[in-house]
Amino acid sequence: MRSDLVHLVDELAERRALPVEGYQALVEGADSELRGLAARRAFEERRRVFGDAVYVRGLIEISSHCRNDCLYCGLRRSNASCQRYRLSTEKIMACVDEGYELGFRTFVLQGGEDLAFDDERLCDVVARIKRAHGDCAVTLSVGERPREVYQAFHDAGADRFLLRHETADPAHYARLHPAEMSHAHRLACLRDLREVGFVIGCGFMVGSPHQTARNIALDLKFIEGLRPEMCGIGPFVPHHATPFAHEPAGSADLTCFLLSLLRLQNPNVLLPATTALATVEGDGRERGMLAGANVVMPNLSPADAREKYLLYDGKASSGSEAAEGLADLRRRMAGIGLRVVVDRGDPPHATAAGTAI
Ligand code: 5AD
Repeated sequence: MRSDLVHLVDELAERRALPVEGYQALVEGADSELRGLAARRAFEERRRVFGDAVYVRGLIEISSHCRNDCLYCGLRRSNASCQRYRLSTEKIMACVDEGYELGFRTFVLQGGEDLAFDDERLCDVVARIKRAHGDCAVTLSVGERPREVYQAFHDAGADRFLLRHETADPAHYARLHPAEMSHAHRLACLRDLREVGFVIGCGFMVGSPHQTARNIALDLKFIEGLRPEMCGIGPFVPHHATPFAHEPAGSADLTCFLLSLLRLQNPNVLLPATTALATVEGDGRERGMLAGANVVMPNLSPADAREKYLLYDGKASSGSEAAEGLADLRRRMAGIGLRVVVDRGDPPHATAAGTAI
């Protein structure tokens, strides 16, 4: 193991920060031994803050319609083979009620940027969930909207918002997205979300096309500066009907290593072991947890919706990916000494500005 890299891990754990060059050296130079060391330290940090708790979120995929044309995503508007659907308010409430019975206390409403799912409709759903289950948190993941709309979502009772920044490098962003999408606008949305009062999450894909070690280092530096309460990272997985159909998938090893670095950077961060990680590696959930993750988002969507909501090929959707498979997830987590809890899973000690105190 290279001692210079061990020192960088020490420095990150101590100062919760590194120069971009430090992150880059770690991404470029880590071997399995160093990844193991970082994982053990990250696991210790997550234990110190969260004990053995694993937070679960019930994921409800509310719409597969999308006005955007992101080159990597199976829901892109130019994918004519994507089966489009939109869940009714009643359907969503049925998913929530079922999830509540199963023990979920956070619901994530995620969808493509579907303008037919307008502000009024979404605010109504959020308000209904909060009325029916006042002890639950609602997370939205519905993309870029005007600040007033974010404000309306928050006023309706939504607690958290996930908006992956996708990449911190504008030039890389331009190679993943059509010209009409703007990196600056995406970052402005994250700023708006925080100012409006949301608990926020950013994130990126690991191994996305054209991504370099420098890009990943810039992502880590960006997250260090933003200090989001939540951060979603998972490997890129190709989708057959996109321009990136023949690009290789991202690596589970590197994803887990980055989870460890993010945990060392911010011990309080809510860090999911994502479905994409479980898709590229059968035991991805466990490996993610052992590397420092502390959140899992099983799928609560109706079965027919799950089959249509395909961001990438081979999406893991059975066993512990599915909300009905909670028993399986519990068993898997118990197998690595962790415990799925019935809890909103709020960020610890967060101030309105999102910084740890
Ligand atoms: N592989 C992995 N992740 C993807 N996402 C979209 N398409 C893919 C893909 N092909 C991620 C994006 C988006 C989130 C909802 O899913 O980062 O923000």
